[in-house]
Amino acid sequence: VICDSTVGSLYGQQVASAIAAFRPCQLITFPAGEWNKTREEWQSLSDALLAAGFGRDAAVVALGGGVTGDLAGFVAATYLRGVPYIQVPTTLLAMIDSSIGGKTGVDTPHGKNLIGAFHQPRAVVADVATLKSLPKIHLAAGVAEALKHGAIADEEYFRWIVDAREQIFQKETATLAEAVSRSVRIKSEVVAADEREAGIRSILNFGHTIAHAIEAVSGYEVLHGEAVATGMVVEARLGTRLGITDAGTTDVIREAVMAFDLPIDPPDRPIHTYLEAMQRDKKTRGGTVRFAFLERLGKVARENTENWTTGATPKAIEEALEP
Ligand SMILES: NC(=O)c1ccc[n+]([C@@H]2O[C@H](COP(=O)([O-])OP(=O)(O)OC[C@H]3O[C@@H](n4cnc5c(N)ncnc54)[C@H](O)[C@@H]3O)[C@@H](O)[C@H]2O)c1
Ligand SMILES: [Zn+2]
Repeated sequence: VICDSTVGSLYGQQVASAIAAFRPCQLITFPAGEWNKTREEWQSLSDALLAAGFGRDAAVVALGGGVTGDLAGFVAATYLRGVPYIQVPTTLLAMIDSSIGGKTGVDTPHGKNLIGAFHQPRAVVADVATLKSLPKIHLAAGVAEALKHGAIADEEYFRWIVDAREQIFQKETATLAEAVSRSVRIKSEVVAADEREAGIRSILNFGHTIAHAIEAVSGYEVLHGEAVATGMVVEARLGTRLGITDAGTTDVIREAVMAFDLPIDPPDRPIHTYLEAMQRDKKTRGGTVRFAFLERLGKVARENTENWTTGATPKAIEEALEP
């Protein structure tokens, strides 16, 4: 069982002893936080597995948020050329998004998730009861990805999330479970259609070209979900300026983002640092920064796109970053 130290102190022992009833099991922890989703941490976790003498009959249980899922998943993808793993997400973000789809990896000083592998978990086990201990800011960060699912695929779901604001903040079990199941359905359908992101899977990156730049520029001080919230606002505005996204979409997204106390503006840093960070984005092709734009709320733009994404000039991006 691999988990960060925070989740380890909350649920680590419980999960490890449950597994130990069936098979030998070891609990391995690492320091919490996005800044530990690194090659160094991948190395030390892998070394811990080697030191414990785990063979190819071992399996990894990734217990925690998206950082743990991505990192422990990447350890599983590479350990002895790959061993099975199970995702046990404990943040809303991980339950509705990062535990699904098999993307694993680590960040580098050059940018987010630049080293990694596709490695599907054998199972995902999510218990919304674990969200009771999740700090409010991380709950809101998870909502950002849920809003993204609504924005790209289901306008009614988007509006349901906004209306369910109080119940979500109260951590009502039924409401959280419904959000998890609706989001998982949307994400898994897209992933099943295009596992390796040759085309339609790119629509899950709505808001993410800007988000990844915000995360990198802020030195990962801004949470992924917070950055996605801002990224959706900026990319909706950019899409409208390019004549792709219906006017009015930005306002609806901005209000939803604000309702969950998420940021609508990027941190105040020189624009050129954002443009440089975007140059290193995985979606960049031939030096052009690419985006998955909405046509309107609930529908992603397809017409006139190149495989679901569209390039934008540095000038247009700059204008969208400065409202
Ligand atoms: N693989 C994918 O497809 C995918 C998709 C979306 C996001 N991600 C990645 O996910 C990461 C963000 O995930 P995250 O927001 O879950 O961050 P995280 O894993 O850092 O968790 C957030 C914080 O909550 C704490 N925590 C976790 N569960 C808790 C609980 N039940 N109670 C109390 N505290 C708890 C953690 O210790 C951590 O401090 C980013 O690195 C992002 O790139 C990956
Ligand atoms: Zn994301």
